[in-house]
Amino acid sequence: MKFTKIIQSRYTTKSYDYTKKVSKESVEELKAIVHLSPSSINSQPWKFTFIENKTVKTALAEASYFNKQKILDASHLVVFSAIDDIAFFEENIKHYLPEGAIGYYNNFVKPKGMQEIKSWFKQQTYLSLGIFLSACASMQIDSTPMEGIEIDKYKNILNQIKYKPIFAVAIGYRNTEDKNQPMYNPKSRLPIEDIISIM
Ligand SMILES: Cc1cc2nc3c(=O)[nH]c(=O)nc-3n(C[C@H](O)[C@H](O)[C@H](O)COP(=O)(O)O)c2cc1C
Repeated sequence: MKFTKIIQSRYTTKSYDYTKKVSKESVEELKAIVHLSPSSINSQPWKFTFIENKTVKTALAEASYFNKQKILDASHLVVFSAIDDIAFFEENIKHYLPEGAIGYYNNFVKPKGMQEIKSWFKQQTYLSLGIFLSACASMQIDSTPMEGIEIDKYKNILNQIKYKPIFAVAIGYRNTEDKNQPMYNPKSRLPIEDIISIM
């Protein structure tokens, strides 16, 4: 299928059919795809946690405000985290990045200070969200990206020390009556001429 058709068909699912599960095979494929996400200097300052366990998924749903029911009914929840410990990142990259990439980090990212470094980690992680949502759509798996989560509670539940959750994505199959499907709620975007220009 053409990518245009795929991206037109994806939407933020607001209601899931709790009886339908994403197959093990598809979950493995999604893991392999998100693993291949690109990042600046191949820094990969992220962690992706696929939640299948019902008890853990329910605990995370309870810490997800208005997103609770979606997570309870979705097949899986995937939590996207970024490194939260800069010293840990700097030690790690010695083992997997070439000298030139480390030089780029030391000369262009590190001097900006702690806040900016952590923001750079998050920016890389958001890139993987685009890949992940597109992959789901191409596999006809429905998804919900969610920043509406309680970060500190997620961090505790997942026992993350050197990483911090940023957002999560519920995946599964839509409730056929979901009112947010494009056939009921057509896609809304700013006029293309306002946001895309040619110079
Ligand atoms: C980073 C990010 C965070 C979002 N957080 C939530 C959320 O917490 N709950 C929710 O229902 N939708 C959330 N959305 C969905 C957006 O509202 C949605 O993508 C946007 O309205 C465009 O609609 P579409 O995805 O159906 O095309 C989020 C989307 C993104 C990209």
